[in-house]
Amino acid sequence: MKPSIFITRKLPDTVIEPLNSEFEVEMWDKEDVPVPRDMLLEKANGASALITMLSDKVDTELMEQAPSLKVVANLAVGYDNIDLEAANQKEVVICNTPDVLTDTTADLTFALLMTSARRIVEADRYIKEGQWKSWSPLLLAGADIHHKTIGIVGMGSIGEAVARRAKGFDMNILYHNRSRKPEAEEKLGAVYVKLDELLAQSDFVVVLAPLTEETEGLFQKEQFKAMKKSAFFINAARGAIVNEEALIEALNTGEIAGAGLDVFVNEPIDSNHPLLSLDNVVALPHIASSSTETRLAMMNLCVQNIIAVLKGDKPKTQVK
Ligand code: DGY
Repeated sequence: MKPSIFITRKLPDTVIEPLNSEFEVEMWDKEDVPVPRDMLLEKANGASALITMLSDKVDTELMEQAPSLKVVANLAVGYDNIDLEAANQKEVVICNTPDVLTDTTADLTFALLMTSARRIVEADRYIKEGQWKSWSPLLLAGADIHHKTIGIVGMGSIGEAVARRAKGFDMNILYHNRSRKPEAEEKLGAVYVKLDELLAQSDFVVVLAPLTEETEGLFQKEQFKAMKKSAFFINAARGAIVNEEALIEALNTGEIAGAGLDVFVNEPIDSNHPLLSLDNVVALPHIASSSTETRLAMMNLCVQNIIAVLKGDKPKTQVK
């Protein structure tokens, strides 16, 4: 019997084609709707491999019902949806998709920063709603980006890629990270600072840290209070790093100037959520790595990792 693989979202046939000759492949048939939990558990039972999305919880319950499971390839660089300890105990290899999405994610993060600062969404709405009556001196005046200070919280490869973009805009680059990044300091002139100092000095605070026990709820009232009133808060990491009530209050009371958010505590966020009613918020539906090229590269990497593990080889990008 061929080893079986379950894929938790509909992926293009061309992507799964390399799996078809040697494996039994089954796929949840919807693109926009996550596989129901009971179906995931049922399919995991008997599967040798899973390709999962960040909306799928891969936990002890799942591992216990999946005695043949050897590898889980998560279609994301982040893997906070996966219980690594449970996987370790069951000797299930976990793979993610780093590197292939770095520049695409950095592009979107910088676009979110620029969109927030230069009020691009508001301006688009303004012209399409027929409000533009004449050129006027301070029409939709935003904040400058060039020569300002960016503070990057989480200086992994995406953080460094954002720093490279910031350097092109002649920005001062501050960063806060678990460890120092000598290469970024040398090549980009990035300066390591404590979080307090980063918050006090930055015109743009950009969060790119993974969601861990250390970073969960890192941004509370106090952190927003420590920021400049003219500063923008950009989050392209994970929603749970931020206390959204505290963020709403900071945006409402003018503690900070605005926010650009690609991620939320609950995804998809309710369209009636108070964050979405604020003019000084630009909100995106978790699309930072979503260019066609990059999403296909991520899918292909998942497929390659699964083939490697099921053939007894080392996968390209195993989470350690
Ligand atoms: C990731 O890869 O972790 C992103 O958040 C999803 O593209």
